[in-house]
Amino acid sequence: MDRVKDKIALVTGAAQGIGLETAKLLSKEGAQVIITDINDEGIQDRIRDTSLKYEHLDVKSETQWQDLIQKLKKNFGHLDILFNNAGITGLNENLGPQDPEHASLESWQEIHKINLDGVFLGCKYGIELMKNKGGSIINMSSRSGLVGIPGAAAYASSKAAIHNHTKTVALYCAQKGYNIRCNSVHPGAILTPLWDSVFGSQQEERKKVLEKIESGIPLGKMGDAIDVAFAVLYLASNEAKYVTGTHLIMDGGILAGSSASFKKNDK
Ligand code: NAI
Repeated sequence: MDRVKDKIALVTGAAQGIGLETAKLLSKEGAQVIITDINDEGIQDRIRDTSLKYEHLDVKSETQWQDLIQKLKKNFGHLDILFNNAGITGLNENLGPQDPEHASLESWQEIHKINLDGVFLGCKYGIELMKNKGGSIINMSSRSGLVGIPGAAAYASSKAAIHNHTKTVALYCAQKGYNIRCNSVHPGAILTPLWDSVFGSQQEERKKVLEKIESGIPLGKMGDAIDVAFAVLYLASNEAKYVTGTHLIMDGGILAGSSASFKKNDK
């Protein structure tokens, strides 16, 4: 308990999925948490039994970031934890094909605006609110930021850029003596609404797709949002005070190596 006691935390894209689960965990561990999203619908009902506070924020909008930062400055004076979590694959959002041959330039740019520009803006304005007292920025990348993904080119490209930008921010803040740490998290195959378009709406189809996905995961199952939340909690807490510019993978072992084996009867 109290691993982030009395810290002020901001989590983007937190109306559902990993963002909401992480916000709840940070709050349970003593932080005062502001969650943001573009999907305002039903959010007050979903956070009724929590101490989370909701603000609308489209992460690709610089003016919305500026307004929110002013508000936080006025209410709290600073920020201790920023989880730049918001992101889209382009598959749920009907942005057309996402492979490198057929994806449209518009969809490529839209995905980079949300995933990458959103993280750039979060870091830029997060630094402003953290630099006097220090803090921890955690950027949401993905296992897709470390390998190629044929069916989600823009997603993979944007997540790879987040991986790199995180290290730049970490070194910059260290050089400036800001005491701001910056790290990225790289989940793989976490069961959230992000996978809705992959699963489809039929129960039978969903079961088959899930089995296929899980057969490719060394630990044999998809992860839960809480598996990512605990990694973020660690990076946000003082336990990680010497950890900056690194990336933490939670993917059930997918990136550990190839399943190609020496023996014929190896599984
Ligand atoms: P999700 O789809 O359940 O949640 C994403 C949230 O981001 C939604 O609440 C959505 O409204 C919000 N959002 C979308 N566009 C936004 C914008 N312009 N401004 C602010 N908020 C916006 O997905 P999930 O799984 O919780 O994903 C969260 C993050 O984790 C994403 O960045 C995703 O790429 C990343 N991730 C997820 C993995 C998974 O297997 N679920 C694996 C690796 C990374």
